[in-house]
Amino acid sequence: MKRMLSGIKPTGQLTLGNYIGALRNFVKYQDEYEMYVFIANLHCITEYQEPLELSKNLTDAVALYLACGLDPDISTIFLQTDVLAHAELGYIMACNTYLGELNRMTQFKDKTLKNEKNLTAGLYTYPCLMAADILLYNANYVPVGEDQKQHVELTRDVATRFNNKYGETFVVPEPLIAKVGARIMSLSDPNKKMSKSEETNKGCIYLLDDLNVARKKIMGAVTDSVGIIQLDKQNQPGLYNLIEIASSLTERKMEDIINEFVGQGYGKLKAYVADVVCSELEKIQNKYHEIIESHMLEKIMQDGAAKANEIANKTLNDVKQKIGLEIKY
Ligand code: AMP
Ligand code: TRP
Repeated sequence: MKRMLSGIKPTGQLTLGNYIGALRNFVKYQDEYEMYVFIANLHCITEYQEPLELSKNLTDAVALYLACGLDPDISTIFLQTDVLAHAELGYIMACNTYLGELNRMTQFKDKTLKNEKNLTAGLYTYPCLMAADILLYNANYVPVGEDQKQHVELTRDVATRFNNKYGETFVVPEPLIAKVGARIMSLSDPNKKMSKSEETNKGCIYLLDDLNVARKKIMGAVTDSVGIIQLDKQNQPGLYNLIEIASSLTERKMEDIINEFVGQGYGKLKAYVADVVCSELEKIQNKYHEIIESHMLEKIMQDGAAKANEIANKTLNDVKQKIGLEIKY
């Protein structure tokens, strides 16, 4: 069975973008692949997080992983800091990554260009830690949204270079990006990614949003003045985004949804998208509350950490030996 690994960094509440672009796919793939899914808490602190809030977000993220359908009996679910090998291989990967490579990473460049203050060294070397996350498990595939493709490509480059230098060590992973839903856009600005870090909350639907709030956000989504229901991503990005959201959640083709609403007003289409999203959120939220009340998280995370440690430590020991980091007695 081929192995798959992915992670989410809960720097806030998980969003509909995380669900459609990532989480939902983990669930789909878990029967077909040996699945490793982790909570990237070390990645969270590359930017300051209020400690109590961070801890709450981590707990919610695990509960949401399960509520969305990840099954701990077949998938390995764990917390990044429960496996010390991530930080250690992360450092080793940083010593095998060139400054030029990190300087090319668009996520970091965007933040630099926005003149954000107090950018940390951790943020800069983030892709090295991400490479370690993936390579420790010899994952064949990494299901992610579009924004993470460049980081997986860097991981491939670093893994290949390491293999050439020190001998075959790592599986070179491939990013797996869905055709529909890999980049869900903000409802208030369809030219920007739907993101947890948005200033106003209007454009982003959170998985734990009150259903009425979520409905209002969709009904208030920015569209255009063209007034025709059709697929034109260039000129009607807001409408396209709404149709893409509905298409990925229902697995209906985008064209079929267009055909159903063609000739009608945007309000009708928005109401349909709101129904689809709210019914999905309702299912997730019901399960989330059951899970929180059942107090099962601790045991699941302990079991996950034990399984993850076993594989990760094996890879780390192999790497240390290959590099010559060990004393031979
Ligand atoms: P992050 O929240 O940045 O840790 O992202 C976790 C996963 O969700 C990654 O695979 C991202 O690519 C994916 N993701 C985040 N935001 C979106 C979005 N707006 N549309 C699609 N995928 C997304
Ligand atoms: N960088 C990813 C994000 O922000 C999260 C992440 C960390 C990840 N390590 C990973 C995703 C390893 C896939 C594989 O979305």
